[in-house]
Amino acid sequence: MTEHIDNNRIYNDLRYRFDYLSKFLNFTSDDIAMLNKFAIIILPRIPVIVDTAYRKLLSFDITKQYFLIRNDGFEGPLIKESKNLTLDSPQMIYRKDMLSIYLKRILTQTEWNDTFLQYLSQIGQIHANNIGTTLIKVDYIHINILFGYMEHLFIDILWTTENLDDKTKHDMIMAINKFFWIQNDIFTMHYGMSTREKSFSTDTTKAKPNAS
Ligand code: HEM
Repeated sequence: MTEHIDNNRIYNDLRYRFDYLSKFLNFTSDDIAMLNKFAIIILPRIPVIVDTAYRKLLSFDITKQYFLIRNDGFEGPLIKESKNLTLDSPQMIYRKDMLSIYLKRILTQTEWNDTFLQYLSQIGQIHANNIGTTLIKVDYIHINILFGYMEHLFIDILWTTENLDDKTKHDMIMAINKFFWIQNDIFTMHYGMSTREKSFSTDTTKAKPNAS
């Protein structure tokens, strides 16, 4: 049987889009239960995960630059010079707190209701600069690799956790993976990348500077 999916609704109706992604990936309440179970393992490690993620982002100038701009909600003293910005700078402590809150929320959420989907969407919007008052627009390439990197950190911790049977580990890895793809998709929606109208350019000559 072929199920009809409305091509307009997936761009205009977040719940409808999420339902489509869930059916495609087979993301069910069992996966949510697995994420909640995984939360018990990972919550004590969140400070380390967040530090590791931001250490990575500060290790390249192309990603570090975003943290030299004043963000919404941060009112403390702002470091504007790249060489002075560290993981312990006030603006980074603020960013780390926000990421910790996010990670705790996504793992402990028991019901993926509309408010929660809206939260996932809002985080995407902030980075794509579709809401908010700042001028920060994080290029999507960095979003994509950070999702990949965070997933590695999660799986690495899970893999080395003792006293978990293989089936539970397998189901947790599946649930984590589905979560990251769903959240990543919601980001791409705000970057206008997954619409038919705004598809990627296929001009490959730009990738070959020496081509004549
Ligand atoms: C890939 C997954 C990412 C997640 C889950 C994430 C999560 C978050 C969260 C939860 C916030 C706080 C939103 C709020 O104020 O309510 C935030 C803000 C921010 N993030 Fe990310 N982030 C990601 C990637 C990135 C990357 C790759 C960069 C830069 C290279 C970045 C830079 C920022 C900045 C600058 C803000 C502040 C934006 C503002 O307040 O205007 N984020 N992020």
